[in-house]
Amino acid sequence: MAPLPSFLVPLLITAASAAIDPFTSGFPSPWAVGGLGWDEAYTKAKEFVSGLTLVEKVNLTTGTGWEADRCVGVTGSVPRLGFRGFCLQDGPLGIRYTDHNSAFPAGINVGATFSRRLMRLRGEAMGSEFHDKGIDVQLGPAAGPLGRVPQGGRNWEGFSPDPYLTGVAMAETIKGIQSKGVIACAKHYILNEQEHFRNSISVKIDDRTLHELYLWPFADSVRAGVGSIMCSYNKIEGLYSCENNWTTNYILKNELSFQGFVVSDWGAQKTTLGSALNGLDMAMPGGPFSPTPGPYSGAIWGGLLTEAVLRGDVPQWRLDDMVVRIMASYFKVHTGNYTTRPDINFSSWEKKAEGYFHPSSKSSWGVVNEFVDVQRNHAALIREIGAKSIVLLKNSNSALPLRKPASVAVIGRDAQDDPLGPNACVERACINATVAMGWGSGTAEYPYLISPSTALKARAAVDGTAFTSIVGNWDLAQAQAAARNASVAIVFATAHAGEDFVDVDGNKGDRNNLTLWDNGDALIRAVAAVNNNTVVVLHTAGPVVLDYAKAHPNVTAILWAGYPGQESGNGLADVLYGDVNPQGRSPFTWGKSVEDYGAELLFTAPDPRNPTQSFDEGVFIDYRHFQKAGIAPTWEFGFGLSYTTFDYSGLKIVSHNGEDTLTPTQMINEGLTEPASTFGTLNRSISANIPPAGFNKIWPYVYPWLSGSNVTIVPSTAAVTPATNGSEQRVLPAGGAPGGNPRLYEVMYTITAEIKNTGTVPGTEIPQLYVQLGGEENPWGVLRGFDDVALAPGETKMVKFELTRRDISNWNTTSQNWEIWSKPKFVFVGSSSNRIRLNATLPAPPGMVWV
Ligand code: NOJ
Repeated sequence: MAPLPSFLVPLLITAASAAIDPFTSGFPSPWAVGGLGWDEAYTKAKEFVSGLTLVEKVNLTTGTGWEADRCVGVTGSVPRLGFRGFCLQDGPLGIRYTDHNSAFPAGINVGATFSRRLMRLRGEAMGSEFHDKGIDVQLGPAAGPLGRVPQGGRNWEGFSPDPYLTGVAMAETIKGIQSKGVIACAKHYILNEQEHFRNSISVKIDDRTLHELYLWPFADSVRAGVGSIMCSYNKIEGLYSCENNWTTNYILKNELSFQGFVVSDWGAQKTTLGSALNGLDMAMPGGPFSPTPGPYSGAIWGGLLTEAVLRGDVPQWRLDDMVVRIMASYFKVHTGNYTTRPDINFSSWEKKAEGYFHPSSKSSWGVVNEFVDVQRNHAALIREIGAKSIVLLKNSNSALPLRKPASVAVIGRDAQDDPLGPNACVERACINATVAMGWGSGTAEYPYLISPSTALKARAAVDGTAFTSIVGNWDLAQAQAAARNASVAIVFATAHAGEDFVDVDGNKGDRNNLTLWDNGDALIRAVAAVNNNTVVVLHTAGPVVLDYAKAHPNVTAILWAGYPGQESGNGLADVLYGDVNPQGRSPFTWGKSVEDYGAELLFTAPDPRNPTQSFDEGVFIDYRHFQKAGIAPTWEFGFGLSYTTFDYSGLKIVSHNGEDTLTPTQMINEGLTEPASTFGTLNRSISANIPPAGFNKIWPYVYPWLSGSNVTIVPSTAAVTPATNGSEQRVLPAGGAPGGNPRLYEVMYTITAEIKNTGTVPGTEIPQLYVQLGGEENPWGVLRGFDDVALAPGETKMVKFELTRRDISNWNTTSQNWEIWSKPKFVFVGSSSNRIRLNATLPAPPGMVWV
């Protein structure tokens, strides 16, 4: 029988369609095999791991404990080979808890640039800084939370609630970071969409929504070669993420063929066997935050993993696979050998030069901080991203750009410097001054912070503009007095968000509402009441309710500046004065109320120990929900103004049959993997796995050894279970290579259009491609392409989008595969998700008919 054209049906039909039930059946954690960019690293890792002893292997899988070493997480080492432990350090926008580093714009700003170039450059810049501090793993970027709910406390660490935009940003950031010799860590996998109850919530989700929405950017991360993925705190369908057979073994390591290592979020590991057999490869921070007395300090791995391997509860192949994955990631990003990486030269726990190397056990005093300056000229890039991520939401009467105004009144605390310095608030959890990043582990220490007030004052001095600045938000009469006679009154306001371990003004990470903080709305209204040229600048974690300001005739301009990092004021001044023509586009939708968003954040639960949450809205979050429900937003996803105007014309679609680019090596294998391998022989005697004579253990440091020679190992008599079975396994139909079946990424259509700058100043347009996949189940349109096109006045350029097979596919939960449904499909090219300038029917692939 001739094979069916692959676009009609599941991509590849293999024996695997005699399906594994992903929800109920146990099966082993898939072992790494190399492939797509991993082969050389995998070969080196196998060789390295083959020479390790049991305790050396275990040591690389387990953190030494909270504050046990200098980074937020450090694994054990292999002293015999001169291999120091891995240093893992936050976070997604720069290095946390150190000095002489840069504070980059947050992910949400990078999303707003819609610029692959800036995404990549920021990744490279961050990677070089982490590298030079001796960090092996940067704990970022973040694609979870994706942004299911607008109040989500950590949405700003990621890029956008749109999975396509986030996927591109993840891939570019990861490639940038890893090109500098640092392993990136895509986090938090998966469905960690809110801070309330994050340690106990169980999320219910359907398989299609998981694939089409929340998994999408992780698939891009895996395809980009990410070296590590952090499993999250929450449960999925009742099982903790860090011991979840479905999400880790079945989807991440089998279907997506992830070849790197899974690291736990700090304290997210729950059980020794549950985590080991369900795909965890590295436990962080290794011990509990409050260590308990006893030989293992309360650690779940370390010596307990050694015991489990000796008993046979964890097969050797599983331990070897953990270490091969860890070392393959290491060799993937390192061009040299393992002896050439920089030493760790900072301490997260001490600001002075000298301190304890092992603070949790108050031992080994010496120089722990070398104050290595790693900033290079990154300030220029930070300023550029800051400016190019600003979204101009309103600009009436050509209020902007400013042209040497006679007087400027800058109003609001959010414009000001903190007299105690930009890092005065621990974890950035306050709004005492201008806000340029959220709070929690996603922060970096600022080297300095240029406040808007400082930057605008300097600009005023150059122009001879009279300058006033009002600090407080609550004395409205004072604000009005300053604003009344100013040529332009610029009001600043914030709405802050962060991680659950700090509560700011009653907001436990997630925002309680979508209003501005610190009397911000009243301040805007008061100033607009007395000045008909009121400009509003927002430093918010995401959307706020602002329809009143949009409608107010005296509010002439509104700019969202997000969390722009250390060059905040300079980037803003560049846009306000027209040195940079605004080109940011909103990476989320601005609703008129929190209810507009449909999906709800769970603030209270009947049983707070076992809260559950069902993501019943499916794939309809953010703009997809607004479109479906017919709700007009204040500003839509993808929206942003420019100081010039653009014309769109000449939409063309060229179909490819999608099979031309396929090479035999990209084909899925025969449907079965090789059996699991072991690397090296383990000495299973007790004496080989206890501390060497005379070794002085320091409590609560976590070690890989058995507690002592009197430990009793009772070999397991259990039969091989599905989870410990190392024989060959079926490859899933959607799998076969990192990121999933390579055929998913074949280009099926090339779509082009002409963009013209019809105004009088240079500007960059962000044309966006949306695709309607058809049917009730699909949103009106989903983002599937974007570009940043710089144009001189009168200039025309062609923009090109490439649509892959994956871009036009839906997930079939029965066949467990992507497929192109036969529903008619349309493409839209426009300047936002609502402002469509060109559209066309997508021709059906050869041999297929839209019905
Ligand atoms: C918990 C946070 O959820 C995670 O993002 C971070 O990397 C770790 N703590 C380490 O600080």
